[in-house]
Amino acid sequence: MLDAPEITDAEYDALFRELKALESAHPEFASDDSPTQRVGATPREGFVKVPHSSPMLSLDNALNEEELRAFDKRVRELLGDEPFTYVAELKLDGLSLAVHYRNGKFAQALTRGDGTVGEDVTENARTIRSIPLKSRLHAQNDWEARGEVVFNRKAFDALNEERAVAGLPAFVNPRNAAAGSLRVLDPATTAARKLEFFAYFLIPPPASQSEALRELRERGLKVNEHWRTCSDIDVLVAFCKEWEEKRDTLPFEIDGVVAKVDRFEQQQRLGWTAKAPRWAIAFKFPARQENTVVENIEVQVGRTGALTPVAHLRPVAVGGVTVSRATLHNEDEIERLGLHIGDTVLVERSGDVIPKVVRVVAQGEPRRAFHMPKSCPVCEGEVVRAEGEAASRCINPNCPARLKETILHWAARGVMDIDGMGDALVDQLVDSGLVRNVTDLYDLTLDKLTELERMGAKSATKLLANIEKSRSAPLPRLINGLGIPFVGERTAQILAETFGDLDKIATAEEEELQRAEEVGPKVAASLRRFFHEPHNRSLIAKLRDLGFSFHYEITRKSGNLEGLTFVLTGVLPHLTREDAKARIESAGGKVSGSVSRKTRYVVAGEEAGAKLDKARELGVEVIDEQRLLELIGTDSSATAPAS
Ligand code: IVH
Repeated sequence: MLDAPEITDAEYDALFRELKALESAHPEFASDDSPTQRVGATPREGFVKVPHSSPMLSLDNALNEEELRAFDKRVRELLGDEPFTYVAELKLDGLSLAVHYRNGKFAQALTRGDGTVGEDVTENARTIRSIPLKSRLHAQNDWEARGEVVFNRKAFDALNEERAVAGLPAFVNPRNAAAGSLRVLDPATTAARKLEFFAYFLIPPPASQSEALRELRERGLKVNEHWRTCSDIDVLVAFCKEWEEKRDTLPFEIDGVVAKVDRFEQQQRLGWTAKAPRWAIAFKFPARQENTVVENIEVQVGRTGALTPVAHLRPVAVGGVTVSRATLHNEDEIERLGLHIGDTVLVERSGDVIPKVVRVVAQGEPRRAFHMPKSCPVCEGEVVRAEGEAASRCINPNCPARLKETILHWAARGVMDIDGMGDALVDQLVDSGLVRNVTDLYDLTLDKLTELERMGAKSATKLLANIEKSRSAPLPRLINGLGIPFVGERTAQILAETFGDLDKIATAEEEELQRAEEVGPKVAASLRRFFHEPHNRSLIAKLRDLGFSFHYEITRKSGNLEGLTFVLTGVLPHLTREDAKARIESAGGKVSGSVSRKTRYVVAGEEAGAKLDKARELGVEVIDEQRLLELIGTDSSATAPAS
């Protein structure tokens, strides 16, 4: 009822089946309030309850091929060997909804409720774009579409991230999120969530289910396109297997396949039991959630230096695969889950290869809190969690876990431009122990290189020449090459231009660093941290010994715009961004990516957005393309900055 289940769906299904079996063996013990006696959740207080036009029934489940074939056998027997076909549809994992149209207009939407009486969620459903508010067809008749409201998987992940930031509990899965978004008292909440409605049932019904699906589309509703008519059980079984394989390719969750006898007249003859139709069955995919114990939490260091906590689990089979590890992403995630070592958790295997921990189901006894290590488990370098970042990182670029990435970045085009230094070679160099940090590249010799597999004298000679050439790289490239978090090509250029010397940058205080254009507190802190780390200090010393130039001659271009900083925003009528930038720079001006008090002009075109707002907020002068061209032109009096 509260959209916050305490056990897994699979556990619920198993208990439900057991109860059903017990009740049929001992009817004297079956009670009126048994969960087997109702179809859905009891309507929650707060919504108006409205009876359904006809009961919204549930479906019987087939948990494997055998049960599916048993269903088929029953159908064939009941139809007395008369020919028939199935319609197979995806079983969307959402929340069922009945949508009523009167006089061609969307009139009412009801959740399933207990199957007989639903909750009126009309105003909330009105915000779902895939529910048309008008239908051109059948304007004179009243009709009803039933279907499923689903939550897109990506939107679901984004929503949970937002909720984590806001300190709200995460939704367990997209279905609960769909329910939690539709069954809210404020329609604005529903509107803010990207829900989708897929229709699969039409009242009054046409002659067959396949016709109903086509007709629903005609009337403007969304119908999931992956349905198929199946001439017999073998085709149906194949369809189920196919989608069990492909389920992760869909943007939303499915938990099975629904098979329906196609012809309405045959459906009528097969009829219903108290709870479900005899003409349809839900083939459920195996559950991909199970409970297990977190035996330990270990930390892995990735290629970018990010430390990822990984849960070591008591091995458990989840949907046919044994799972013994699950990623925990970062410290915040562990906190959000309230997870301690020793706890029993629900693990889920979804589209991704790495299983995840959904929630803690029972606290362990004993249990032990996890703390992110203060030093890197691989190199013992300093671990830092930057403000506003979820990840903790090892900041030693020569950390063996980071080394390959560091070298690839160092050698990349636009950085040190070392042609021929690709993935495979870097693997060889690091794995053979020849290179333990970037400066080792400069100790490589022909002999050492030709010992490597697949490395001939000719390519080795070329490579050495390219490495040698990189020694004369100008300072901006060197700074970029260091791989300092938040310092890319552009910031490296600005730093070199502003300070003109690497030693000055390395020893500057944060405040001083922020003098540079586009360098805010975050970048300044990152720089300061980097140059304080002992490994990095010795790296800088070695680079100096190797003859890298730490000095940078600022070649100021002279022109009308000298000393002026511009920010471009929106689409200019004639100039492309690149054109405008090139023209400003060749007139001695600078182009910055963000508006600050250091900005002299914001050049705004059509569809200018946040930067324009920011300019207004800071009182920065806003000009158009025409005015920019005038400034670049000869009229130098116009460039004098306002005091
Ligand atoms: S037909 C009487 N078709 O699964 C027929 N149901 O376990 C009722 N569902 O209550 C449903 N996709 O919420 C049908 N293509 C589909 C479905 C589907 C998902 C849901 C629906 C239903 C439940 C039954």
